[in-house]
Amino acid sequence: MKLVVGNWKMYPKTLGNAKMIFAEVKRAAARTPKAKTVICAPYPYLPILLAARGRVAVGAQNCFWEDEGARTGEVSPAMLASIGASHVILGHSERRGLGETNEEVARKAKAAAARGLTVILCVGEKARDEHGAYYAEVRDQLVGSLAGFPKTAVRRLIVAYEPIWAIGRRARRAASPADHREMSIHIRRHLADLFGKKDAFRIPILYGGSVDDTNAEGFLGDGAADGFLIGRVSLDPERFGSIIALAARRV
Ligand code: PGA
Repeated sequence: MKLVVGNWKMYPKTLGNAKMIFAEVKRAAARTPKAKTVICAPYPYLPILLAARGRVAVGAQNCFWEDEGARTGEVSPAMLASIGASHVILGHSERRGLGETNEEVARKAKAAAARGLTVILCVGEKARDEHGAYYAEVRDQLVGSLAGFPKTAVRRLIVAYEPIWAIGRRARRAASPADHREMSIHIRRHLADLFGKKDAFRIPILYGGSVDDTNAEGFLGDGAADGFLIGRVSLDPERFGSIIALAARRV
């Protein structure tokens, strides 16, 4: 089953809007049981969305690596698990851009998995060069961010390939389906080195970066993506709903 994950980032501004968008996403997800929909929302909205979730799974966009402590401003995996959140995005490029390191992401991933959360680990190169050095950049992120991740928890691991140059308003374009296909083969090879071939093949690899309702189909087909991590368009329930419907047609 394909996976469509919305990354709301620091949007929308009010709880009222969050509820409205979520209600529409929930309706779209209810119409298309053959795809799995996840919304990763800002912390304050999580309990409210969880109470209304229906078929939509609800997750966070970050967490700390300890379950409790004197850590002002942090939120722990235990807290997320206790309110019923099921997923957490870790290592998003916007957090790495604020200084988050592979070591920190690895600690977070291990702690989140230990609490039963499904980790959506983001990796992706800053830019592409003609010599292919970006392959090593993605490998280093992947291997560094999964250091110590227990083999017993791989069923709670999802990888999102998000080339930074393709993310957000400043992106000139999405990657191509072929870009994603090639990188996901590379990623899976390293996942196989870490966890063994059998488990590596079960880890979904999502594409993220300027996904919309016009380019999604290509990623699911030629791109061989197991689903998407979607920023901007996840706040537009109509377009997001069309992507869920597309994904549901590709079981
Ligand atoms: P975008 O963001 O879909 O707005 O490019 C993707 C992401 O950052 O997860």
